[in-house]
Amino acid sequence: MKIAVVTGASSGLGEEFVRVISEKYDEIEEIWVIARRTERLEALKERFPNKKIFPISLDLTKHESYETLSEMLESEKPEIKILVNNAGFGTHGNFDAMDLNTQTRMVDLNNRALTAVTSVSLLYMNKGSFIVNVCSIASFAPTARMAVYCSTKSYVLSFSKALRFELKKKGINVLALCPGPMDTEFLPAAGIEKGSSHTFDTLPRVNPAMAAEKALRHASKGRGIYTPSAFYKLYRFLSKVLPHGFVMHMSKT
Ligand SMILES: NC(=O)c1ccc[n+]([C@@H]2O[C@H](COP(=O)([O-])OP(=O)(O)OC[C@H]3O[C@@H](n4cnc5c(N)ncnc54)[C@H](OP(=O)(O)O)[C@@H]3O)[C@@H](O)[C@H]2O)c1
Repeated sequence: MKIAVVTGASSGLGEEFVRVISEKYDEIEEIWVIARRTERLEALKERFPNKKIFPISLDLTKHESYETLSEMLESEKPEIKILVNNAGFGTHGNFDAMDLNTQTRMVDLNNRALTAVTSVSLLYMNKGSFIVNVCSIASFAPTARMAVYCSTKSYVLSFSKALRFELKKKGINVLALCPGPMDTEFLPAAGIEKGSSHTFDTLPRVNPAMAAEKALRHASKGRGIYTPSAFYKLYRFLSKVLPHGFVMHMSKT
């Protein structure tokens, strides 16, 4: 059985990945969708009736969740053609004003879970399979008031590049998707409301439907990084050539 696995599928960008896979990837027989909110995952069955949707309610910050996924894979022995590591969250504000639990949970979800899900999934991936790791423009340079979030996304970018290099000989591609701000549940959950940050109020929004579609297409064709929109491609270039101390002034949130 050829499957796709999408984490963080219950809203926003993750839901768009499920939509695009269900509409455009004919060889995929089943989509395993992972998140905590069971009812949201169940609702995907009705939204996308043309593909078998298999909801798996897991809190990916918990170590047992990787064991559960690993056991399910061992029992079904599917071929994972597409893995989308999308689950993630961020916070906005000074590090010393944030509670310890939130900061460490962010590392657990954005990095630990992404690493563990990749590790258990790779055993079921073959030539032609590919991974999309959802990263962010936050990975290009540090951003004050989003210190932990940016660091977690730098990890995702670095991990994706190295893994892509390693897996090339097996014919498995890894792409890091690096979007700018998208109007999903992410921004309010991070404490970014209209009026709370001039930078976020003015930054152009990325369309999650377009980002998901193009990321999957580029990943299937062997590309390593995809940054939607010319504006954020320019930011990526500038963050490579300018000192990060200066970039941090430009991108102050
Ligand atoms: N929106 C932006 O501005 C933006 C920009 C750049 C990158 N990104 C990245 O894009 C990805 C998707 O975010 P989004 O914008 O679509 O935000 P979102 O709508 O808040 O989606 C986040 C997803 O992660 C899941 N999730 C959160 N905690 C989880 C946990 N402990 N265990 C399992 N699943 C969990 C959520 O589902 P449950 O709550 O049901 O568990 C939800 O499906 C994230 O990695 C984010 O960092 C977002």
